[in-house]
Amino acid sequence: MQTPSGHPVESTSATRVVVLASGAGSNLAALLAAHDDPAYGARVVGVVSDRPAAGALDLARDAGVASAVVAPADFADRAEWDKAVGDAVAVFHPDLVVLAGFMRILSPRFVGRFEHRIVNTHPALLPSFPGAHGVRDALAHGVKVSGCTVHVVDAGVDTGPILAQAAVPVREDDDEAALHERIKVAERALLVETVGRIAREGLHVVGRRAVIGR
Ligand code: GRF
Repeated sequence: MQTPSGHPVESTSATRVVVLASGAGSNLAALLAAHDDPAYGARVVGVVSDRPAAGALDLARDAGVASAVVAPADFADRAEWDKAVGDAVAVFHPDLVVLAGFMRILSPRFVGRFEHRIVNTHPALLPSFPGAHGVRDALAHGVKVSGCTVHVVDAGVDTGPILAQAAVPVREDDDEAALHERIKVAERALLVETVGRIAREGLHVVGRRAVIGR
């Protein structure tokens, strides 16, 4: 099947990962740097963005990974856009959907369609500082340690069962950009490690507990 990016949808025996990204795509880049190694166990087979100018789309193209843009402006309302995102993701037959800097909220319907197969990375230590400004909010609160969280997505915003976290100390002179840059270094490593473990060991969710392993 052809996607709008012109690349065919890849077939692979690895765990099929679809990445949703709105921004520069450094988390996507880290996954792409890992996925060629068969021992990694996961492969990015598709990238979906809400922004035609997202750097993540350039990264996908350069890596030969199929991609699609589903821009809200092209749809009559949120519900139609949300369904189109789900359809764009489904084209790639994902085993796992990774929200890597995807800056829009997906509906409970989307979450239900890929239940327990969506993970998100967030630049703060959840459940503190959820939402779009996690780094700024943590800094404004005066925390001495922040970090990042990889979690299974549920119907809430940044509320799903936690898979992994890494702490990043806050420096006296940090501003939002400086702290976010250091968090992103930890975040990339944590995401790559967590996605690989899910691929190799499996994931199940029991209540609020997300467990990697059989
Ligand atoms: C990450 O810190 C992500 O958690 C946040 O936005 C950043 C995206 O970075 N929501 P990138 O686009 O992967 O470089």
